[in-house]
Amino acid sequence: MTDPRHILITSALPYANGPIHIGHLVEYIQTDIWARFQRMRGHQCWYCCADDAHGTPIMLKAREEGITPEALIERVAREHQADFAAFRIAFDNYHSTHSDENRHYATLIYERNRDAGHIARRTITQAFDPVEQMFLPDRFIKGECPKCGAPDQYGDNCEACGASYSPNELKNPRSAVSGAVPEQRESEHFFFKLGDFEAMLKAWTSSGSVQKEVANKLGEWFEAGLQEWDISRDAPYFGFAIPDHPDKFFYVWLDAPIGYMASFRNLCDRTPGLEFDDYWAKDSTAELYHFIGKDIIYFHALFWPAMLHGAGFRTPSAVFAHGFLTVDGAKMSKSRGTFIKARTYLDHLNPEYLRYYFAAKLGPGVDDIDLNLEDFQFRVNADLVGKVVNIASRSAGFIAKGFGGRLSAALPDPALFAAFTAAGESIASAYEAREYSRAVREIMALADRANQYIDEQAPWVVAKQPGREAELQGICTMGLNLFRLLIGWLKPILPGTAADSEAFLQVAPLTWADLQAPLLDHEIAQFKPLMTRVDPVQIAALLAASKEDLTHKAVAAADQGEILVRTDTSPHLLRDPIAATIDFDTFAKVDLRVARIVAADLVEGADKLLALTLDLDGETRQVFAGIRAAYDPADLVGRLTVMVANLAPRKMRFGVSEGMVLAAGSGGADIFILSPDEGAAPGMKVK
Ligand code: 2FM
Ligand code: ZN
Repeated sequence: MTDPRHILITSALPYANGPIHIGHLVEYIQTDIWARFQRMRGHQCWYCCADDAHGTPIMLKAREEGITPEALIERVAREHQADFAAFRIAFDNYHSTHSDENRHYATLIYERNRDAGHIARRTITQAFDPVEQMFLPDRFIKGECPKCGAPDQYGDNCEACGASYSPNELKNPRSAVSGAVPEQRESEHFFFKLGDFEAMLKAWTSSGSVQKEVANKLGEWFEAGLQEWDISRDAPYFGFAIPDHPDKFFYVWLDAPIGYMASFRNLCDRTPGLEFDDYWAKDSTAELYHFIGKDIIYFHALFWPAMLHGAGFRTPSAVFAHGFLTVDGAKMSKSRGTFIKARTYLDHLNPEYLRYYFAAKLGPGVDDIDLNLEDFQFRVNADLVGKVVNIASRSAGFIAKGFGGRLSAALPDPALFAAFTAAGESIASAYEAREYSRAVREIMALADRANQYIDEQAPWVVAKQPGREAELQGICTMGLNLFRLLIGWLKPILPGTAADSEAFLQVAPLTWADLQAPLLDHEIAQFKPLMTRVDPVQIAALLAASKEDLTHKAVAAADQGEILVRTDTSPHLLRDPIAATIDFDTFAKVDLRVARIVAADLVEGADKLLALTLDLDGETRQVFAGIRAAYDPADLVGRLTVMVANLAPRKMRFGVSEGMVLAAGSGGADIFILSPDEGAAPGMKVK
């Protein structure tokens, strides 16, 4: 490639039905570091992403919330983008797979493959929910494991014994949507003939487009034979209708990677001079890389290049897969508080810490990485605060006090400076090869040398000796120049700290090339602490808040009608009907009472809740209910409702909730909590 290189990179598109968590962030941070590094090297590097907005789970989640899928994906898109921005993930474009551009390219890619004979059609038999009138994906069928008999297992594998099976092997299967017994129904499906592309995929795989471990895995898949891929789904489905078949939709995974193209198209349309074809045409010389998790290799290293090739587009230059994140050596766990949402992390800790820690752990392979919270605290404090930032704080004060903030005109130890700059290319090659842990190791070894220089020169001693002013200025100029190199090399990892350092040094945004020459005879600003230490109290608070997220979710869900009264007209109110059955004796323990609402108030900071004051014939209870969208508080006062009177009080963020009111409806504005006024009196038992 000629200089500058033209590079388009992507991260996998997050589903638009849940928040970003720290597991996701491994990939966005990994990709963002690479993009920032390439830009610092003077290359043109576009980083595009989008929300993955289609599919059954998103359709059902929107329905559960009583909103349209469009409203759900719009809200989630806003939340995702706010989280990414806070972690300084610098996308050039963030789009959605539910977009005109994506509809265009999904249709085009499908039609070109169809016209070239790569699409087959045949009838298959599939589980069908007779209540919801929909075909059920495997994950939406539950029953007893055919191997070990564990109840309440999904249709594809058992969480108790790990067995994999097909949904029709489950015993006592039920639809996880309505609870109905699924039927088997026939329907015509469309298939992408992956086998047509075997030779092309083998050539692509052996051309260095995938990591060694991935190539081995692909070898196994080639050996097993490439199966046709089912790319259609029947209505109801949230997605794009297949041309000429209005009741059939593209499966979400068909249009998801096309979202990479769609996002780039959207960027081209608002960026003068940026041409879509330069990056996607068959003869493109631009580089195209996809960063992904190792669980979605099949889609990116087989289906995706084949679809592109079949439609006359270029194939990716490479796919870079990474491993999963564990926390303290184990899978992220909600009960341990280690299932940490991006937003919860941000409430407690600086995003730069996590960027640094992940970088220090990331290599070019598919190994899992572990966030060990003790090690996290230790490394951030020892490396960033103790080594890097310390170099600046040890030197800056003397320059400000004795020399009006001015650096000396020459370096006292040009050989040491040259030894540092000589390391720049090795650090660059580590970034380029995604060996971030090596880059960090090399930078930290140099930080040790810089500190050693300051220790040896002892500017605090020199400062006390009259006549050695020029020497003092030189030592501190040297220290600040070494700091400038270190922070410049760390800039792809620590963009926020680097920006603060550039402001302190009063220099333009650093490029890699700037890190060859020293900064001399130059006035710097007043030094302000660039980073504070991680306090174990913050980590404890983060874990506690992550556990709390879980409690709030349960309470909020209960208050929003998910586990309340099931009626035939709103069966989807029950998220998991087969998981939660209780025997009659347990039911008999539930104390349902009629209560009069004596006050209904808005809850500050909770736009879905109302605080209800309930009278149970003399006894007053406060209950928080998720019915704000359904009722004007004033309309509730004086009316009757049914409540669970013996529910243990729960501490919520806003106060204690002393029971639960029952409701029916599809959610949102359609929640009905009131019984008719006649014939009921507060305190009366309902059963
Ligand atoms: O696994 C996932 O989270 C998918 N939403 C990733 C899609 S990546 C790309 F193909 F769009
Ligand atoms: Zn089992």
